[in-house]
Amino acid sequence: MVNGLITLPSLLIPAECTQGETRVSATPETIKKFLGLGCKVSIEKGAGLAAGFADEAYSAIGAELISSGDLKAWSNADIVLCVQAPNANSLRTMREGALLIGLLAPYGNDSLIAKLKEGKLSAMALELLPRISRAQSADALSSQANIGGYKAVLVAAASLDRYFPMLMTAAGTVQPARVVVLGAGVAGLQAVATAKRLGAVVYVSDIRPAVKEQIESLGARFISPPKLEEKPSEAGGYAKQASEAFLLAQRQQLSDHLSEADVAICTAQVPGKVAPRLISEEMLDRMRPGSVVIDLAVAQGGNCVDTRPGETILRKGVKLIGASNLPCSVPNHASTLYSRNLLALLEPIIKDGNIKLNIEDELISGCLISQQGEIHHQEILETGTKL
Ligand code: NAI
Repeated sequence: MVNGLITLPSLLIPAECTQGETRVSATPETIKKFLGLGCKVSIEKGAGLAAGFADEAYSAIGAELISSGDLKAWSNADIVLCVQAPNANSLRTMREGALLIGLLAPYGNDSLIAKLKEGKLSAMALELLPRISRAQSADALSSQANIGGYKAVLVAAASLDRYFPMLMTAAGTVQPARVVVLGAGVAGLQAVATAKRLGAVVYVSDIRPAVKEQIESLGARFISPPKLEEKPSEAGGYAKQASEAFLLAQRQQLSDHLSEADVAICTAQVPGKVAPRLISEEMLDRMRPGSVVIDLAVAQGGNCVDTRPGETILRKGVKLIGASNLPCSVPNHASTLYSRNLLALLEPIIKDGNIKLNIEDELISGCLISQQGEIHHQEILETGTKL
């Protein structure tokens, strides 16, 4: 199929099977556009319900509603659009050469890679989309991280035993909450902006000096990275993995900031690697009882010691919240933006009712993990089981 042509592309929108996943990969808005591009669209009944999109809204615009688990629909699909990877049974049913697109968690995901090879499937993982300006409208990591950063601050504010803003009341003045944001990528910057809007005083740590200006323009204060010879700052706009010696120096530097903080929002990540450990037991011991740590990097190992995905743990009075999938708590907008990302990715691929994958295009090849079962993606081949 890759580099070849398929007539009348058939798209399948499955109901997500991962526990806690509330998003859907296509909304009535984007399905209308896919139909306009000459596609036939099938959607599993109930797929959009948790995100606020009823079956009738899909059928009214011409999508075919199918029963959940209808394996025939899976074997007929040319393209399956998902949020997270489908289960093994569904993948096994996809026909050879069909294309799977979604947030497939490709790094070190040996079982997915094995299934793509076995089923001779093509797959695009949105996590691998190159960060070039042409790809911005398809950038699902950014659209979802933005939501994560925003919601992290709301969760923190709701869990904190204090106000966020400074207030002058008849009973006296209340000092503003002090928030430390670790990592100033898309999620971190949105967390900074949201915390500032709520009136907090915000400090930010990142190892990329380039973000200092962005942080200061949002009214927050930048904690400069430790002054060491090692500069794990950038590779193509991303941070590189820092050594343990660098992280030790960074933890020492952050310890005083955290001892005075009410909230820590952890968003520091390095793509394809375990998240840097920035908050240790000793640092938690210095945080005041009643303070809150929200760890958005928890699924990648966590920036903070002791956080667990999806769990809130009370540790000596400090609330540790393992916020593994905050976009799922804002499913309507998360799905609206995610489905637009998929449409933007697919629009140049679907032309006149045909699917054409131009692997000369860095946008396509950058996120194409497999082509009819053959794994071509260098980074994925190298990551293998390392994560
Ligand atoms: P990410 O989720 O991979 O990492 C989050 C943040 O953690 C990054 O800012 C990173 O520098 C930081 N970090 C890593 N190790 C750290 C440590 N030890 N201490 C403190 N912070 C640490 O990053 P995200 O949000 O995916 O964005 C990465 C870059 O890509 C940013 O520069 C962003 O502006 C850029 N970007 C570019 C786009 C485009 O041009 N199309 C679209 C979206 C993002």
